[in-house]
Amino acid sequence: MTIHSFMTDPKLPVLLSSRQIQARIREMGEQISRDYPRGNLHLICILKGACFFLTDLARAITRDVFVDFMGISTYGKSKSSSGEVKVTKDLDISLEGADVLIVEDIVDSGVTLNYLMQLLLQRRPNSVRIATLLDKPERRQRPVEVSYVGFRIPDKFVVGYGLDFAERYRNLDDICVLEETGETLATSQEAGSFTTGPRR
Ligand code: IMP
Ligand code: MG
Repeated sequence: MTIHSFMTDPKLPVLLSSRQIQARIREMGEQISRDYPRGNLHLICILKGACFFLTDLARAITRDVFVDFMGISTYGKSKSSSGEVKVTKDLDISLEGADVLIVEDIVDSGVTLNYLMQLLLQRRPNSVRIATLLDKPERRQRPVEVSYVGFRIPDKFVVGYGLDFAERYRNLDDICVLEETGETLATSQEAGSFTTGPRR
């Protein structure tokens, strides 16, 4: 394969297929429905990566939920968080007395969720828990208690199903492994078409 065709049409190796992801989300939805039989349940989607997961998880939950969005930025386009966290979009709905479930795409260093947990606990909710689609436990730098985990994955940088690298690859159906370094991709790739490897 030439460098040019790789740049416009990379075949990224699939780590988790769309089918595996959807099956696991159905199980998570059933468990969450059982765990919260009553009260106001607020699903807080952490933008942007978690929005694909949120829409599927919310529909797998068989009780009424509130849906709200929070924008968080950990600075920079590199593959690891810098440690600085900033709220770029706050919630629309009050959390007072509510059961809150933070919906996140992936827990990596734990910096984002450690910060967010402390922030939301100040808003006098009844409870705050975390649901994440992916967890990379090997990478943890800050303690985070995660109540619902879709998949524990090895320390590889993944994209697809909402997860990006420099805002790309979010709309892949599968979760794929991106093996190149941040520098190489950021400087060599323009936005273009892409496909994934064979489906499982
Ligand atoms: P943490 O604060 O280091 O736990 O980082 C969490 C955020 O980093 C996630 O919400 C993602 O936006 C991003 N992130 C961490 N690992 C990956 C990955 O493998 N692929 C894409 N984004 C990631
Ligand atoms: Mg994110």
